[in-house]
Amino acid sequence: MIYLDNAATTPLHPKALEAMLPYLTERFGNPSATYSSARHAQKAIDDARKAVAAVLNCRPTDVIFTSGGTESINTALKGVALAQQKARAGNHIVTTTIEHDSALNTCNYLEQFGFEVTYVPVDSHGSVDPEAVASAVTERTVLISVMLANNEVGTIEPVAAIAKLVGERARQLKRRIPVHTDAVQAPGSLDLNVEALGVDLLSLSAHKFGGPKGAGVLFLRRGVPFISQLTGGGQERQRRAGTENVAGIAGQATALTLAEDNRDAYNATCMALRDRLTREVLAVVPDSRLNGHPSERLAANVNISFRGVRGDNLVAALDKAGIAASAGAACGMQTWEPSHVLLAMGLSMPDAVGGLRLTLSAQNTDADVDGVLAVLPGLVQAQRSLAAAR
Ligand SMILES: Cc1ncc(COP(=O)(O)O)c(C=O)c1O
Repeated sequence: MIYLDNAATTPLHPKALEAMLPYLTERFGNPSATYSSARHAQKAIDDARKAVAAVLNCRPTDVIFTSGGTESINTALKGVALAQQKARAGNHIVTTTIEHDSALNTCNYLEQFGFEVTYVPVDSHGSVDPEAVASAVTERTVLISVMLANNEVGTIEPVAAIAKLVGERARQLKRRIPVHTDAVQAPGSLDLNVEALGVDLLSLSAHKFGGPKGAGVLFLRRGVPFISQLTGGGQERQRRAGTENVAGIAGQATALTLAEDNRDAYNATCMALRDRLTREVLAVVPDSRLNGHPSERLAANVNISFRGVRGDNLVAALDKAGIAASAGAACGMQTWEPSHVLLAMGLSMPDAVGGLRLTLSAQNTDADVDGVLAVLPGLVQAQRSLAAAR
């Protein structure tokens, strides 16, 4: 199999597995217990928190361990919005039209509880204009959420510029307006330094960077208005109750450190493969177009629309040829519909339904690209002939 769906999930890194195994076997103690055999578990969490904080350039106590990206984003958005509502600070949230469903549906949820949400549009590359975000801010705005990189088209958003402009606008309005970024697609490729980004909250999901499924991180800057969403015991300094997923936390921290340490090599390898794959597919397949920003895009992301072809049919045909790819967001695949991201970028319906996403890793090789190039043009042609015969 040629695996080209690394934006959906990545294989567990062997070193992450190694870091996890003791806590799935002999070191099974509850980290809240006080006897000596449980202290291993608490130490593993403490060490993991420090390792994550080193990558994010934040205080270890500002790191909250969660069950994944979806939980981190829910916790960030609901936690801040409800705290701001409680403090009567306002009820307005600013986000964008191309966020992941875990952010968009959380905004929809908050709309049912009296919040108003502005969905800032994007340009044809999927880029958000920082000025547009800043000018959406009002004296009722309580939270901004803009993703660091888009999971479908790979466009990298100008989050640092957004945070800076929002900060200036907030100072004019004499308000504190926290900025959250969904950085789920960024580890291993982009800088996660929260000071450089200027963000107050940042969400990660371990399985996107060689960690296990069911583990995530929420960075929550000290002092940001926040109400815990998971209530119960006092874990995670009262911000996320529930016995910690010790193995997941340990594996996630190891994977994040490795991803950060290997960023340059990863970007160089993936970019070379990405550019060759993109160039050659566009050259040989007529009526194909690259989606997303031509340069400000994730090193691993190729997203191409083939006019007259449905992305899901192409994914099924590629699967038969031993290639794992995606037609859009993996998380919404039960019912197939054109990607909200491609539509938000202004693609016509025929282009939006024909989107194919191929996401690489540093484990892919030129032989994998050869494998795709050997079958993809023919499969597109076959799909087009089938559609024409209908
Ligand atoms: C950009 C982005 N945000 C959030 C998520 C949700 O992460 P998880 O499914 O791990 O909870 C994903 C997963 O695809 C994603 O790509």
